This record gives sequence, structure tokens and C-alpha cells, in this order.
Amino acid sequence: MSTGKKGLQVIRVDPERIEDEQLLPAAKALRHGQLVAFPTETVYGLGANANDPAAVARIFAVKGRPPDNPLIVHLADPDQLSSVARDIPPLALRLLDAFAPGPLTLVLPRAATVPDIVTAGLDTVAVRFPAHPVARRLLQLARVPVAAPSANRSGLPSPTRAWHVLEDLGDRIAFLIDGGPCQYGLESTVLDLSTGRPVILRPGSITAADIAAVAGLPVPTEPTADDADAPRSPGMKYRHYAPRARVLVFQPPASPGEREALAGQILTWTGRGKRAGLFACRASLDGLGTDCIRLDDPAKAVTPLPPGTCVSLAYGPVPDPVAASRRLFDGLRLLDHLACDIIFAEGLPEDGVGLAYMNRLRKASSPAAPVLFVCAGNTCRSPMAAALYNLLREPSAAPGVSAGLAAYPGEPASDGARIALQQDYQISLASHRARRLTDDLMDEAGHILTMTGLQKEALQAARPDLADRIQTLGEAAGRPEADIPDPFDGSILHYQQTAAKLEQLIRAFLEKGG
Ligand code: TXA
Ligand code: MG
Repeated sequence: MSTGKKGLQVIRVDPERIEDEQLLPAAKALRHGQLVAFPTETVYGLGANANDPAAVARIFAVKGRPPDNPLIVHLADPDQLSSVARDIPPLALRLLDAFAPGPLTLVLPRAATVPDIVTAGLDTVAVRFPAHPVARRLLQLARVPVAAPSANRSGLPSPTRAWHVLEDLGDRIAFLIDGGPCQYGLESTVLDLSTGRPVILRPGSITAADIAAVAGLPVPTEPTADDADAPRSPGMKYRHYAPRARVLVFQPPASPGEREALAGQILTWTGRGKRAGLFACRASLDGLGTDCIRLDDPAKAVTPLPPGTCVSLAYGPVPDPVAASRRLFDGLRLLDHLACDIIFAEGLPEDGVGLAYMNRLRKASSPAAPVLFVCAGNTCRSPMAAALYNLLREPSAAPGVSAGLAAYPGEPASDGARIALQQDYQISLASHRARRLTDDLMDEAGHILTMTGLQKEALQAARPDLADRIQTLGEAAGRPEADIPDPFDGSILHYQQTAAKLEQLIRAFLEKGG
């Protein structure tokens, strides 16, 4: 790769006073196949010449992006639309009149000239005209269409400041143009106009109501990957925006009782020596009365907090989805830098920009990993389940682990479990050693899946703060009646039947999105 940290050039540009000489080297590098990270009004983008398949391939390589997730083509001027799209419906032109340049991406039938790698082989192309003056000038000087995803490593929060790009990709790109913090802080609204029935594939700062007002008809928002079987925007099915810390969403407490309950949850974490971060408006934070270090405008280089502390970051004075969106990704990254184990983030009503904010927040809080299978002794059912899950899942999915409510630590897997998995799946449980379920294991897990309803109830009673993560495996598979009884001391056939039942449920769980 033509990069390497020493090769990186950071160019600071004042968006109010852009000089072409500053941008020309980056524009030229872009045209000639190098990667350039640049600010847009939404998030920072990682650009490559869209006409150069080898350059576009480097985007996928440096981000670690799955190849079936297509890129947005960025253009300086709506006049250039027909260079990448065809059969452009009149509605597209009306929307561009209203919102371009700006945070709106249109999905349209693609022109034959757009390389396959840009669209991941789809016959549509996503196009956007960024409004940020630095992005516009860069595109004009580069004189090529620019394919650009957000400039983060795949799966991490999108970058809204230059240092976010630096920490994710600093050693892998040629140029980083630092134009300061991004105005909106969330990626553009993606609107599909390729089917005759406009649909929002990704909510953003241009809302469904904004679009409907121009379209003259209601425009639905596609349910996101979390609830849809076959997401139409391929990128929506991947885990996104997730910091290292666990993220729990809380609703702004409306009564003293609710405030107390939330403060109690925070104390549960800090009391066990964990670092808790809060992302909310000042009004919500003040109402809590929890003893927190305030981080209203922190520098990037902050040393890890002492264990058992709580820090708060106020995105603004009062609940406000625009201000919360602007600060969300930056807040998640900052709280990660402070080594927070848990981030409590304020939820907001899901209308207008609040829909886009909650869409990103939900994804950030979606189960990080691992999937924790729980049974009694951790010698039969749960190690079999974890091993089968690891066999069946995608390599990039969260790993499966297991523990027992009443395990004797160090005990090997039972003979029956070992033989059944070896014979039917060629999986060895030889190195498995039982371990007891701990709070730490539960804190880290994205899903906590028990074998029976009784086990689930016991765990939910012990950890009400994690209740939404605790399910029976049957429930997680969409078959709530399916308990897995303990095969302990049964015949090999009995173990084989247990394994087959586990396999079925795990397949169903994975099909539902894991
Ligand atoms: O604000 C933004 O849109 C930023 C800045 C840099 O412009 N870009 C951005 O790109 O967020 P990215 O790659 O992180 O997200 C692009 C989204 C993905 O969910 C992708 O699946 C979807 O757009 N997409 C791209 N091409 C598509 C197509 N032809 N059909 C449907 N969805 C498409
Ligand atoms: Mg992205």
C-alpha cells in the first residue's frame, strides 16, 4: 500500500478561508489513486477516485469493510449526476433542487461507467453532493467522482473530528484534511429512488417529513437491519458505531422515582469498580444528582479514569436531537478513551432528527459481544451451545462463550457432550473447562442465553439492569417454548438429540440476526 504513517500528510484548513494551494496536493493524489480523508457536513469521508477500481479496492482494505457493502459516490455539482446515474426520475431533480448540496444521498439506477466495486455489483448507485466547503472545493479540484464511505474502521463510530480519523486510519492513508468538527455528526439520509416507490434506507438530518414535503407523498423509512430480514441498504445489516464500552440507552427520567432508579443502576456499576460514562443533556444530568466528573469540553488525551468513577458529557443544555446527534460519535469515542466500561446514553423521542439519532444509538448499543450461553454445570449444554454457535456463525460475528450457574470450576465437558459433538460435528470439547457465571462475564456479554426459563428468571432477578439482554435460547430463536433439559448422565443418543436441538435453535437465532 502506498501509505504508512510517515507518509500521512495532515492539512489543516479553515472552512471559511480555503486556499486552493492547500487542497491541490490532496486533490491530485485523489485523482491519481491515493486515499484522502476529508471533512463533510455529516461525517469525515475516506475518498478514492471512483473511476479507479484499484483505488476503491484500497478503501475496502484499509477500513476492513465487507465487500458487499457499496459506497456513495460524491460529486461537486448536481449537473454531473448523469455521469454516474441513468433513468433519473423527476423527483430526484426536485429533491436536489431542495436539498443539494447537503446531507442527502440518492440511490438511482447506475450508469454503465461506474465500476462494479463501487456499487458492490448492484445495478444502482448512491450519489451525494456534500455541502461542506472543503469537500466541495476538493471535489472540484480533483475533477473526478469520489467514492467515499465514512473514514472509520468498519464497525467503529463514524468520525466527526480529524483525530477520530487519525486514530482509526492514520497509518493507512495518504492525506487527512482537517476542517474541524462536522456540523451534523450523523451520516447522510439515504433515499432509494430506484424502484418508483421512494423509501428512506438510512434516516439522517434531512427527515422523512422534509422529503415528503417535496415529494408530495409520504415517504416511509425502511425498517433497519435489526427488524428486517433482507435489508435493502446492505450496510445496515452490519454492526456499527460501536465503541469498546457497552452502551445502555436510558430515557430521560420523568419522575423522582425514575431518577433514583437510574442513579441506582449507575451506582451498581461504579460500586463494582467499573467506570461509567454518561452522555445526556445538562438538564438530565443535573437532575440525577449522581456524583460525576464533568467533561463538558475535554481534550482528547485524557488518562484513564480511576476504577469506580463516573464521568458525564453534556451534549447541550436541554433534550435536543440535533445537538445530541452532532456530539454522539465524538462522545462515544471520548468516553472510550477514558476507559469507560459502560456508557449510559440518553434516548430521545423517535421523530424528526430524533429518528436518525436513535437509529445510530441503537446500533451503538447493539450487543457488542460475546454471546454467553448459560446452563447449570457448564459441562454439557452450554459448552455444546457455544461450540455449535461458533461453528455456525460468520467469522466476523460476536464469539460464543459459556458459563454455569453452579459450575465446579475446571471440570471438563461431560463424556456424552464430547462424544456427541465429535461424532456429529467434528468439534472437540477436549480443552473445555467449566467456569462459574460471574458479574464480569455478564457485563461483557451482548446476549446472555439460558437453557431454561427458570435459569432466565434467576438471572434477571440477580441483574435487573441487564434484563433486556437475558433470554432463553428458545426465546432468542423465536421459539419461546423450547427449554433444553439437562442431558446429564443420559445415553449418547440423548446427547446427540440435545446437540441437534441446540443446532436448530442456534441456526434460528443466527437467521434472526444473531
Ligand atoms: O454522510 C455520509 O453519507 C457519509 C459521508 C462521508 O458522505 N458517507 C457514508 O458512507 O456514510 P458509508 O459508506 O459509511 O455508508 C453508505 C451507506 C451504507 O449503508 C451503504 O450500504 C448504503 O449507503 N449504500 C451505498 N450504495 C447503495 C446502493 N446502491 N443501494 C443501497 N444502499 C447503498
Ligand atoms: Mg460508515
